[in-house]
Amino acid sequence: MKQSIINQTELWVQSIFAKDSSGHDWWHIYRVRKKALYLAKTENADLFITEMASLLHDMADWKFKNEEKATAEIKEFLMNQKVDALSIHHIMDIIAKVSFKGAGVENEIDTLEGKCVQDADRLDAMGAIGIGRTFAYGGSKGRLMWEPSLKPVMHKTFEEYKSSNSNTINHFYEKLLLLKDKMNTATARTMAQKKHDFMQLFLDHFMDEWEE
Ligand code: NI
Repeated sequence: MKQSIINQTELWVQSIFAKDSSGHDWWHIYRVRKKALYLAKTENADLFITEMASLLHDMADWKFKNEEKATAEIKEFLMNQKVDALSIHHIMDIIAKVSFKGAGVENEIDTLEGKCVQDADRLDAMGAIGIGRTFAYGGSKGRLMWEPSLKPVMHKTFEEYKSSNSNTINHFYEKLLLLKDKMNTATARTMAQKKHDFMQLFLDHFMDEWEE
């Protein structure tokens, strides 16, 4: 029963993200699910909730969609799949809270399953894959790679973060380099360090090459 719900959800999500070129394609979801399940096993979290929330975590993301409409759609889908009310509530809660909303905005995620999904999502924003995704996202938004005269901004509210039209290099300073200290689980914290160091190395080379 649970496996067939997971399979149906996977097909639905796959059909929606298959052609995304902003770094939020199906393979992002695939990697987040894999990492979240790994963290969930280590942390003894509920695997069904973790897997479902991983699969659905970007379906109502404010970056792409009308959040309210998308949330209603996901809820309806889960009800059609006969997921029980308590699980629907938990999954929807994770989806609503998972995304990064600015350097100075407090993180609201409060369940173990939510923490695993959020850590997995954040790990996928770091390291070599994170670098690739960040440039893909910047391109999809028409952003410059870098504008040296524009300094990074530490956004204190979600509104500020949402409306900022930064460049891709600044995004490393406004979000990506902050993630290693924002991991919820100890396992993710360890995994994050290596990815953080690699991004730092990339930025060092990038700056060197800019003026060489
Ligand atoms: Ni994501």
